[in-house]
Amino acid sequence: MRKILITGGAGFIGSHTAVELWNSGLEPIILDDLSNSSAGVIDSLEEITGKRFAFYQGDCNDRSLLEKISGEHEITGVIHFAAFKAVGESTAFPLKYYKNNVGSLLVLLDWMKEKNIKDLVFSSSCTVYGQPEVLPVTEATPRQEAESPYGNTKKICEDILVDFVKSKPGIRVISLRYFNPVGAHPSSKIGELPLGTPNNLVPFITQTAAGIRKKLTVFGDDYPTPDGSCIRDYIHVVDLADAHLRAISYLKNQAMDFYDVFNVGTGRGNSVLEVIQAFEKVSGEKLNFEIGPRRPGDVIQVWADTTKINQVLGWYPKFSLEDSMRDSWNWQKTL
Ligand code: WQD
Repeated sequence: MRKILITGGAGFIGSHTAVELWNSGLEPIILDDLSNSSAGVIDSLEEITGKRFAFYQGDCNDRSLLEKISGEHEITGVIHFAAFKAVGESTAFPLKYYKNNVGSLLVLLDWMKEKNIKDLVFSSSCTVYGQPEVLPVTEATPRQEAESPYGNTKKICEDILVDFVKSKPGIRVISLRYFNPVGAHPSSKIGELPLGTPNNLVPFITQTAAGIRKKLTVFGDDYPTPDGSCIRDYIHVVDLADAHLRAISYLKNQAMDFYDVFNVGTGRGNSVLEVIQAFEKVSGEKLNFEIGPRRPGDVIQVWADTTKINQVLGWYPKFSLEDSMRDSWNWQKTL
């Protein structure tokens, strides 16, 4: 069975991707430093799939750990999620972000080349687009100056991948630019586990509805959008996981030294107020929220043009915004 190393595989998107890989006959090998996840996720993955995946706790910067993994498993591909991703924190601690997010990719690529591991799917982000001039945004849209060190690490990693592939190391790479991952596995056994106060909208909504947070603040309703609140492309995490499966499978049929980039979104934009309405509809809860000041650094509106991933990878989203709200709420109620 083809073994795929998932770095950050105990995390939100990584754990859901492990399920989709297993369900399609690939074996995930999980590496995670548990800085933003818990070892209990490995147990939950066993409950969902009936398989206890090999799990290594540690840092992708640790070359000796990567050597140990390739000594114990014949790894044929890597899906690289492991990275710090809090925009605000990255501004406060940029070196922590560059060392982890950029440094770990450099170590990983060197190890892959030496061990003749061919296929890599890299977790990138729509944040590289900043505020696009034209919407929906395509992969040809020029990347903007990053709004944060976090966003800059994603741009730098994409540039590293382009240059590395040009050097003909004998690997094949796809970067996936995620829009806004939301939702949880329909089994409610895995989902988003934000540590501390959530930065992101949907976990803040569900924690408010659960009484963990007193009130949600909508960061501005005076934007030039139909209802005044910001618009994003909210994609269900299981749809996002499936995109990784299709990407790692697609790479097997490509020539060496292949590189390409794909947006992964629903192709639909929804405003903050529409997300709240969808949540209230599926949960039956009245959400306690108020309108507050704009959040610095927020782009006004961004959503994906998904023509390329639809046509090349044959990937289409299956879940709606309401499905995402239902699954997020069912997951929150288990916490
Ligand atoms: C969504 C909308 C907020 C919280 C971030 C990262 C991005 C990616 C996804 C990693 C915005 C509004 C939010 C709240 C609110 N992460 N909001 N009240 O900022 O689009 O993207 O997460 O790859 O890189 O930047 O997501 O969920 O923080 O915000 O009104 O309490 O919800 O203003 O309009 P964002 P978000």
